[in-house]
Amino acid sequence: MANSKYEYVKREFEFHRHLPASNWIVVRIDGCHFHRFSELHAFEKPNDDRALRLMNACATSMLEKFPDIVIAYGVSDEYSFVFREKTEFYKRRESKNISLCVSYFTIVYGMKWKDFFPNNDLKEPPYFDGRVVCYPNINTIRDYLAWRQVDCHINNQYNTCFWALVKSGKTEKEAHQALKGTSSKDKNKLLLQQFQVNYNDEPAMFRKGSTVYRDKVKTDDCGNPIKRTREAITVSNFDLIGPEFWENHQYILGEASDYLCLGGKEKYGYEYVKKFDNIHRLPYSNWTIVRISACQFDQFSLIHSFDKPNDETALRLMNACASLMMEQFPDIIFGYGFDNEYSFVFQEKTELYQRDERLIISSCSSCFTSFYMMKWKEYFPSKELVQPPHFQVEVSCYPEPRIVCDYLSRRQSECHNRNQYTTCFWMLVKSGEGENKAKEILKDTLPKDKNELLFQRFQMNYNNEPAMFRKGSCAYRQKVEASEDERWDVAVAHVDMGPHFWAKHSYVFDRR
Ligand code: GTP
Ligand code: MG
Repeated sequence: MANSKYEYVKREFEFHRHLPASNWIVVRIDGCHFHRFSELHAFEKPNDDRALRLMNACATSMLEKFPDIVIAYGVSDEYSFVFREKTEFYKRRESKNISLCVSYFTIVYGMKWKDFFPNNDLKEPPYFDGRVVCYPNINTIRDYLAWRQVDCHINNQYNTCFWALVKSGKTEKEAHQALKGTSSKDKNKLLLQQFQVNYNDEPAMFRKGSTVYRDKVKTDDCGNPIKRTREAITVSNFDLIGPEFWENHQYILGEASDYLCLGGKEKYGYEYVKKFDNIHRLPYSNWTIVRISACQFDQFSLIHSFDKPNDETALRLMNACASLMMEQFPDIIFGYGFDNEYSFVFQEKTELYQRDERLIISSCSSCFTSFYMMKWKEYFPSKELVQPPHFQVEVSCYPEPRIVCDYLSRRQSECHNRNQYTTCFWMLVKSGEGENKAKEILKDTLPKDKNELLFQRFQMNYNNEPAMFRKGSCAYRQKVEASEDERWDVAVAHVDMGPHFWAKHSYVFDRR
C-alpha cells in the first residue's frame, strides 16, 4: 500500500498520554490576551456583567455537551471544569480532552457573543489556552476550587479599589501605590471611607465567581412545581470555601472524609494545590507537529449542506484559517491540510509557551476554532453557522526534517487514498447505486482499479480532478520582493511534496 513506506512515522513517533485512572480531572481554560481583548471590546472595569454572563453561558453549554463534567467554576477570563473521577471521556486521552474542551468553549463563546454584546461586533478572534491537572480525591478537588475562589476574592477586592481610585482621579501608578501593602481589611475600609462602598454589597458574581452544576429541582423549565426531582444546570455564586455548599450538594462530588482545607497543611496557601500540576515539555530540538481535525464533521457538513465528496469553499476556508495560524504563530514553518484536518509544523527551536505541551495544544485548537468561526461569513455568506464546529488536536515530535517530510507524505498519501475512494463512492451513489452497494463495489479495489472504474463508468479521468482535492493544500512562507524590504507571505499550493518540492523549498526548514 502506498502508505506503508511511511507507516513508521506513526508507529514510532505518535504516542498518546492517558491521564491516571481514578483521579478527578480539572481542565482550566484561560482567555489569551484578554487584557487587550477586554480593552478592544470596551469591557466595563473592573467587572463587565455581560462578559461574565457570557462566560457562564459557555460553561453551561459545556455541562450540556459533556455529561462527565460535574461542576465548573469561573472568574474573570478563566473557567475550571471538573470531570468525574471515573470518566472515560476519550479514554482519558490528555490531548483529546484538553483540545476538545477548549475548542468547544471557544466556539460557544464566539457564537453566543451577539446575545450578550448585541451592539459590539467581535473585533478579533477570542481564544483560550487550557491546562489539565489531576486531583486524586475529593479533598484535593475542594482545595483546588477553594484556591480559585480565594484568588477571585483577592483579585476582585484589589481591582474594585484600584478602579474606584482611578475613576476618582488618581493615575494608575498612584492607585497601585496607594494599595501597596494593604490588607484585606484596609481595602474594605478604604472603599467604605473614601467611596461609601460596602464591599460585601458588591454583586456576588464579582466577589465569589460563578459555579455551574446540576442542581436537583422540583420545578419544570417554567418554574412550575413537578412531582419528581430532576437535574437542571444551574449557575450560582455560592461560597465554595466553607462546608455549607458541599453539605447541601453532596451528590456532586460524593462525601469527603475528614475534610481539611489544603490537605490540612496550609490555609489556602497556593503551593499545595500547585504541586499537582504536571507540566510536559515537548522534547528539545525536535520539530513539533500539531494536527488539528474537526470533530463530528460528517454531521457538521451534512447540516451545512457541503458538496460531496469535496466542498471547495469549505476547503478554502480551512486554508484561510491555516494562513491565519501562520500569522498568529510565526514559529509554524509549514502547514498541510486536506478534508477536515490540518497539520502544522513548528520549528525545532520554538519556545512557544516554553514548549508546554498543554498550552500549545489548547491555544492551537482554540485559535483555529476561532478563525473558522470568524471567517465563516466571508466564505459562506448565505449560510448561517448553525452547529458549533470544534476541533481536536494531536501533537507529535520528530528529530529530523527528513522524518517531518515523511510524516507529511504520509498525510498526502492518506489524502489521495481517501479522496480517490470518496470520489468513486459518491459517483456511484449519484448514479443510483445504494450506499451499501457502492461500498461493496469498492471493497478491496486498488488505486488503479478505482481510476479505471471512474473512467469506464463515468468517463472521468481522476487526474483531471482539481489538484486541491487530490493533493491537499500546502501552506508555507514565500519571499515577496517588495520595492524596499523583503516580505514573507503565506502561499497555499496544491502540489506533490516529493523530493523535487523539498529541493525547491529547502529554506522552509533552514530559515531562522
Ligand atoms: P494571558 O492569559 O497570559 O494571555 O493574559 P491576559 O491578558 O488574558 O491576562 P490574565 O488572564 O492574567 O487576566 C485576565 C485579564 O482579562 C484581566 O487582567 C483583565 O484585563 C481582563 N478582564 C477579564 N474580565 C474582565 C472584565 O470583566 N472587565 C474588564 N475590564 N476586564 C476583564
Ligand atoms: Mg487570560
